[in-house]
Amino acid sequence: MGTIDDIRRYWDEDAATYDDARRHRPTEPAVMAAWTAAVEAALPPAPTEVLDCGAGTGFLSLIAARLGHQVTALDVSPEMLGRLRAHAAAEGLEVQTVVGLAAEPPGRDFGAVMERHLLWTLPDPLGALTSWRAVAPAGRLVLVESVWGAVDPIEQLRSAASRILDRLRKTPPEHHAEYSDELLRSLPLGLGTHPGTLVSLAADAGWRTPRLRRLRDVEWAERMALPIAERLVGTAPRYLVVAD
Ligand SMILES: C[S@@+](CC[C@H](N)C(=O)[O-])C[C@H]1O[C@@H](n2cnc3c(N)ncnc32)[C@H](O)[C@@H]1O
Repeated sequence: MGTIDDIRRYWDEDAATYDDARRHRPTEPAVMAAWTAAVEAALPPAPTEVLDCGAGTGFLSLIAARLGHQVTALDVSPEMLGRLRAHAAAEGLEVQTVVGLAAEPPGRDFGAVMERHLLWTLPDPLGALTSWRAVAPAGRLVLVESVWGAVDPIEQLRSAASRILDRLRKTPPEHHAEYSDELLRSLPLGLGTHPGTLVSLAADAGWRTPRLRRLRDVEWAERMALPIAERLVGTAPRYLVVAD
């Protein structure tokens, strides 16, 4: 695996079960309310033209549309966007979908560009962030991320404990397959994203005054929804990088 066609195929295949994982698409009302508050606080006031890059099945797009924003969802995978359209239709929400590369956003003057969990899988995250600046020259950048992988030894220990609990409970895997080690190593952020790296990348791409905000309310609501053992092990630290 190594080309964008392979990546598209991976996500097309993943679309069938992506939403089954609670960390991808939570169903608990309190968790969704915490996410909604976080997205509302991060975006400019509604209605704003918002571009969601690597929108997938629409987690951020749907929240933004519910808040009254005009949302364009960009993704390389037609199958993921198909799921997004079905969710939007079920709620009577309007979200425009565009199949394409994150680094080639549709040319419009967006008031905000956002993403969740896309940057790790891009061959050139800095190039993508720079291209988003070009379509939102006076807009807001909102990166929704979590600490994972090799960037923090403490988080590595916590997530190892979490995987043991998943195995004991026979929790289905969150994806139909894993990226190969070779592909992960070829991606600049493929082994983990450190908040400081994203702050620097945003600034290098021309986004002004990056701010880092931990999503403690989301983490708290997520933990409250877990069984005791999982609560003790905890969840990955989630955070936003917001810039103008
Ligand atoms: C981990 S999923 C995140 C989906 C969604 N943002 C969410 O929060 O649930 C990554 C998404 O990025 C998309 N993607 C991967 N590489 C891409 C690229 N180069 N351009 C556009 N989308 C891409 C995938 O198709 C997938 O939908």
